[in-house]
Amino acid sequence: MNSKISKVGIIGAGNVGADVANALVLLGKCVTVVLFDRTLSKAEGQAWDIEDTIPLLKDMEIIPSNQYEDLADSDIIVVTVGVQQKEGQSRLDILSDNAEIMRSTIKELDRVAPNSIILIVSNPVDVLTRIAIATSTRAENLIFGSGTVLDTARLRYQLGKRLNVSKQDVHVYVIGEHGDSEFVVWSSAFIGGILLAEFPIPQGATLEQIQQEYAELTRKRGYNISERKGNTSYGISIVVCQLVDAILRDEKQIFPVSVRADSNYGVGSEVVLGLPCIISSQGIERQLVLPRNPHEQRLLEESATKLNEAYNSLDN
Ligand code: LAC
Repeated sequence: MNSKISKVGIIGAGNVGADVANALVLLGKCVTVVLFDRTLSKAEGQAWDIEDTIPLLKDMEIIPSNQYEDLADSDIIVVTVGVQQKEGQSRLDILSDNAEIMRSTIKELDRVAPNSIILIVSNPVDVLTRIAIATSTRAENLIFGSGTVLDTARLRYQLGKRLNVSKQDVHVYVIGEHGDSEFVVWSSAFIGGILLAEFPIPQGATLEQIQQEYAELTRKRGYNISERKGNTSYGISIVVCQLVDAILRDEKQIFPVSVRADSNYGVGSEVVLGLPCIISSQGIERQLVLPRNPHEQRLLEESATKLNEAYNSLDN
């Protein structure tokens, strides 16, 4: 951990914001958490409940607030504001409601915390990150979204179980939209150092069947959880903790976050989607260009087209 005092701001004290705050405190990821909500009592209720655990954990502080000024000098600000999907809604269905909230939030953050790294979590995360980048005056490496980090974790875990190897040894990325047009880059999937295509597959299914089944399971996972408990929040809160760690500890770990695509991806330089990047104290240290076969390139282009259409449907 950096020796300096580390401060993480969270905008929005709903389910996701509160779970992010709780996970940061539980895991002792920073020294100060500011939990901001326009409704102070909501921020207080969540922050006080979490604060009660601190004597039993690592020493930290959690400050509830409805004043943007309290976010000044944050190392990282996590943006979770906006309406959440209702049953049957896709992540893109809630775009227009959340676009305006994102613009006004980013303007406030530019005013009070112009040097903080901003991590967008609100859905649809790719389009909202594009709006945030377009609105903010800060350098582009300082602003990105949670992208397909959670989808990739979901896939690694389930595929590891199916292949009977540790998830740590499953190296594969889900990229594109964090949503229905996301896809798995199977051509560069490795188990240990062995290409998945050459890995011994358990009897009873072909590699193609497994790939199809697990890509589908990953794509539907958020819906399947929401149908049962009304929302998702634990998974994404741990994703945020890992990204916070990578930034505060300058780890240079690779995560598929929402960024403007490198021109080598051939989808233009405006569209924002989940692509692997090295995350460090600089935020986006560098974007990597993942090799794709022609089918995967087509899927990337389709995902980019869908996200461009969603962005262009707004009054920008
Ligand atoms: C999910 C939310 C974060 O996939 O979109 O759980």
